[in-house]
Amino acid sequence: MSENGQREDPLIKPNGVDSDDDDTVCLGESFFINDNYELTTFTFGSHVLQLLCLQSASSITGILCSKFCRAVMLTDHNDEVLKILKKNIELHESSENPNPCAALTAEKLEWGNSDQLNQILQKHSEGFDLVLGADICFQQNSVPLLFNTVQQLLCLRGKKQCRFILAYVSRSKMMDVMVTNEAIQHGLKIHEVDGTRCVIANLEGVIYEIIL
Ligand SMILES: C[S@@+](CC[C@H](N)C(=O)[O-])C[C@H]1O[C@@H](n2cnc3c(N)ncnc32)[C@H](O)[C@@H]1O
Repeated sequence: MSENGQREDPLIKPNGVDSDDDDTVCLGESFFINDNYELTTFTFGSHVLQLLCLQSASSITGILCSKFCRAVMLTDHNDEVLKILKKNIELHESSENPNPCAALTAEKLEWGNSDQLNQILQKHSEGFDLVLGADICFQQNSVPLLFNTVQQLLCLRGKKQCRFILAYVSRSKMMDVMVTNEAIQHGLKIHEVDGTRCVIANLEGVIYEIIL
């Protein structure tokens, strides 16, 4: 327990590597827990995040990235997850964290839903520097829709001006093949980022960089 009584989840370092004082991002077992609206502490190298959690660790990617970016928009198709995203945005805006926070927003977006995507594109016609996805490929029927949505977001900026960074967690061989194939079929270039392939909690993961 921390000084203020909140539970702190241990950061599990792969292969026992100890890097307390560097900025290495290690996803420990805390990434996968279900804490139904409990305030949970996540540690990423020197960054400590307190987040309300529901089912999965929804919010982590966006809130962690807000430490390094000017503006971050979090999206999800699930209304319950959206509630948590908004609660976590409020939590971070109201916290007495001395580090200035990026502008954080949350929008509903079901991959393939052109009305929802168009609303986002109208608000952000200038496009995005990065599109990030972490552990979002587990249902086969949603993967083509994901890449369709990503392709439209990448097209806003044009070639090499926007990247899709996909932190892929492998749950089946079929999905591994499908992710690469769908990227190519949507006219995108996909490459594995060197040194990112690792096993966490028995699941293999890798980071892909995907561009127009
Ligand atoms: C395992 S969680 C990922 C956690 C998240 N990346 C984070 O940083 O905390 C997967 C998320 O993908 C969302 N999702 C799944 N299918 C989707 C779809 N078709 N459209 C939009 N979001 C979807 C789920 O609602 C869920 O919140």
